Order: sequence, then C-alpha cells, then structure tokens
Amino acid sequence: MGIFPPPQRVWWNLPVGKTEVLWITIAFVWALVMFFMMPYWHLTGDQNLSNEAYKIKPEVYAAKTEAWAEKYKVREEGDTGIPVVKPPAGGDVYMFGRLWEWWPIVELEKGQSYRFHLSSLDWQHGFSLLPENINISVHPEYEMVFTVTPNSSGEFGIICNEFCGIGHHNMVGKIYVTDK
Ligand code: CUA
Repeated sequence: MGIFPPPQRVWWNLPVGKTEVLWITIAFVWALVMFFMMPYWHLTGDQNLSNEAYKIKPEVYAAKTEAWAEKYKVREEGDTGIPVVKPPAGGDVYMFGRLWEWWPIVELEKGQSYRFHLSSLDWQHGFSLLPENINISVHPEYEMVFTVTPNSSGEFGIICNEFCGIGHHNMVGKIYVTDK
C-alpha cells in the first residue's frame, strides 16, 4: 500500500462527513463544558484555593521562612534534622520548595485557619498535598498566599508534581494536623 494524493484535488470543498460533524460538535460542546467548569469549580470546589501572589526575592523569602521556623520550631525529624514548626493557631505558615525538598515540616491544628505562604527558591515546583489533591504551582520570585483550614487530622504528604530535575521524585514534604 502506498500513499497517494486524494482522487479529487479540491477535497476541501467537499461536504464534511456526518460522523465528522457529529464528533466536532461533541468535542466543541465538551470544550465549552470544561471551560465553564473552571470558574464553577473555583467557586464551589474545595480543592481550588483562591490565592494571592506577591513579588519577592528568593533570598528574602528564604530569610523570612527561616526566621519563622526558628521562632516556632518544636522538634527536629529525620537524619537531616529538618525542623518541625508549629505556629500559633490562626497564624502564618511559611514553606518553600527548592531542589529537592519542601522545607520545613509544618504542624497545624484541626479546625484553625492559617495564612499559608509558599514560594520557590530556585525554579518551578508543584505543591501537591496528598491525599487531599490540593495542587499549587510554586514559582521563584512569587510568594503565593492562601488560607487553609484543616478539617481532618493526621499526616499529609507533599510531593512535587512539576518535573524539576534529577531529584524530582525525592522532593517530598510533610504536614501534620493535630486534634489540638
Ligand atoms: Cu520540585 Cu519536581
């Protein structure tokens, strides 16, 4: 079998087949549904957080986060001694992503609202909170701020869902939520 030119040279003036029209219509209607689901989920979904973004230099954000962690550190974990930081209920939370970790570990109280700050110190990472399926793109030079109110206690994992290099699959973090 070979590839031949269409038998009718001016094929683009022929009427479009019924099946093709049907599929184009289905695809178009579905695209519209998906388009309007974006604002709909933003207003009604629990996973699409409204966030604010502020310009900030990575070193300034790092210093802010480190000072905050120093102030509210309650213990250290693991071989690397990553701090576990427990801010006052209702307060600010700072975390950054960098090659290849989420820093620090955060401990929150169930039912309390926090202002959660997120940024990257190098390049783009993806903050994915499991098993809640909350996803936020994290960029250097932008401080993302959103409000979280944990409604269940336990241990939550953070993975990076934006490919960021050789250690991407090891870029994990943790949030503890306590019952008070
Ligand atoms: Cu950070 Cu992938």
